[in-house]
Amino acid sequence: MKNFKVAVIAGDGIGPEVIREGRKVLSKVAPQLQSKLQFSEYDLGAAQYLKTKEAMPESVFKELAGSDAIYLGAVGDPKVPPGILEREILLKIRFELDLYINLRPCILYEGAFTPLKNKGPQDIHFVVVRENTESVYAGLGGVFRKGTSEEVAIQEDINTRKGVERCVRFAYDYCQKRNHKKVLTLVDKANVLTHAHQLWRRVFAEVGRDYPDVRTNATYVDAAGMDFVRKPEIFDTLVTNNIFGDILTDLGAIISGGLGLASSANLNPSRKEGGASALFEPVHGSAPDIAGKGLANPLAAILAAKMMLEFFGEKSAAGRIEKAVRATLLENIFQPESSDLKISTSAVGDRVCHFL
Ligand code: IPM
Ligand code: MN
Repeated sequence: MKNFKVAVIAGDGIGPEVIREGRKVLSKVAPQLQSKLQFSEYDLGAAQYLKTKEAMPESVFKELAGSDAIYLGAVGDPKVPPGILEREILLKIRFELDLYINLRPCILYEGAFTPLKNKGPQDIHFVVVRENTESVYAGLGGVFRKGTSEEVAIQEDINTRKGVERCVRFAYDYCQKRNHKKVLTLVDKANVLTHAHQLWRRVFAEVGRDYPDVRTNATYVDAAGMDFVRKPEIFDTLVTNNIFGDILTDLGAIISGGLGLASSANLNPSRKEGGASALFEPVHGSAPDIAGKGLANPLAAILAAKMMLEFFGEKSAAGRIEKAVRATLLENIFQPESSDLKISTSAVGDRVCHFL
């Protein structure tokens, strides 16, 4: 039996309460797995940062890097200036482990709420492949004459041939294997970012020659935002840069059941199986306003756990979790016309376990 080391970072805000439900579901399926999951918890986030002034001790980072996967709740807290926890925990992991793909399904399940009028589960089932290590997230730049009326602030948009190509190639592969409509949409702003995004266009066309069965189109990000709302049914797989992917996947989440249902996988698909670190997390943040009240929907964290099982090759357990989530959603767990829960965070986890 294979052993997988899973590093758990529950983090801040609602992180701990949603991760608790994800762990509950993982324990429930554990006896049926082909492998054994070994969890280690890491106390990272606002509390430990405020205590030690160090968000990510080097020794902890080494252990995370040595794990097979990281399961993360959320980081970010109003008591810490914005950017510290995000950059030193989440972005550090993404960048230093070179997790260059952020895979974000936007799938509306029956029973989940969409604010889009006259759209249903048959219309909203696409996946966004977000580049995860470049763009303005790289943090290159600086400020000059800070705090004066002459201040200059520069943050560069990084797009490398290698970074774009490996992301685009993954997206073609994914779209082909997904075998849905076999349409891959590139989202960019090539009409304005004529240097950076025309690189994406060229690479998209070039790599596409290896995938003659995948139909392609390219769209500008402003138009894509509009079409997420107007006609989401046209999408199958989308590929885009880091910052556009960040913004579009919050929009994608809200049309496909809300942030409480959106999960994601941060991957380095070039690594060999085993000994590979990957990070699985809900798309939502720490939501400090509702933390500790049992209001958070844990299904995003539960679906992130399901993506982790898929990564470990546990296809059948992953499939069973998805079925149990679907069954839970059919139980009328939301307030009318809303993604707010009618039952508590832990009750949702219990229902999923019940169906398992
Ligand atoms: C996300 C989050 C992060 C991001 C933040 C927390 C740094 O919004 O995973 O989408 O911007 O990538
Ligand atoms: Mn985001």
